[in-house]
Amino acid sequence: VMNLYSLGFIFRLTLKNSPTKAFHPLFMIRQITQYGHPILRQRCREVVVNDEILELVADMLETMIDANGIGLAAPQVGEDIRLVVIDVSHDPECVSYLRVNGDDVDMKSIMPLIFINPELEFGQAKEFGMEGCLSIRGIRAEVRRPEEVRASLPQLDGSMMILETDGLLARALQHEIDHLNGVLFVDRLPAVAKV
Ligand code: CO
Repeated sequence: VMNLYSLGFIFRLTLKNSPTKAFHPLFMIRQITQYGHPILRQRCREVVVNDEILELVADMLETMIDANGIGLAAPQVGEDIRLVVIDVSHDPECVSYLRVNGDDVDMKSIMPLIFINPELEFGQAKEFGMEGCLSIRGIRAEVRRPEEVRASLPQLDGSMMILETDGLLARALQHEIDHLNGVLFVDRLPAVAKV
């Protein structure tokens, strides 16, 4: 039986094993839904946490690591629910600040980031940054988005994380939360750049 304690154990195993992608029977690498699949265009449902969700989270982390991704939203593994995993800890310098519930934090202390039912607020300034998507293979493009976000990120244990940041993490949050609303990064390209 899975619970929050065993899930934490699985996360540590996942991260420990990720460099070798060692097989572990508790994990399942899921097929990533590709552009054209209708689930990528749906507005996803609110999540209520239960044991199935915890198993899905473990699968999503494993799938993200296997695909060398920095973020994955539930519809990308065929589940139309508002659940996201993100890990940008490969590049701790990718943000100029990182605050959780008002306090400056070390990036590694909050990665992998796992949240449900998120809400986003945006700063005024916008910037371009390169994006790709595990559901749209072979296409990368500069996308213009707000530089800074304030994200309300409900956690699996029922607590609330208020995360304020910029840089790649702000971009990843926007990209993944777009997925929960059926929006893909190619929708945000100027018409002339669309294929
Ligand atoms: Co994507």
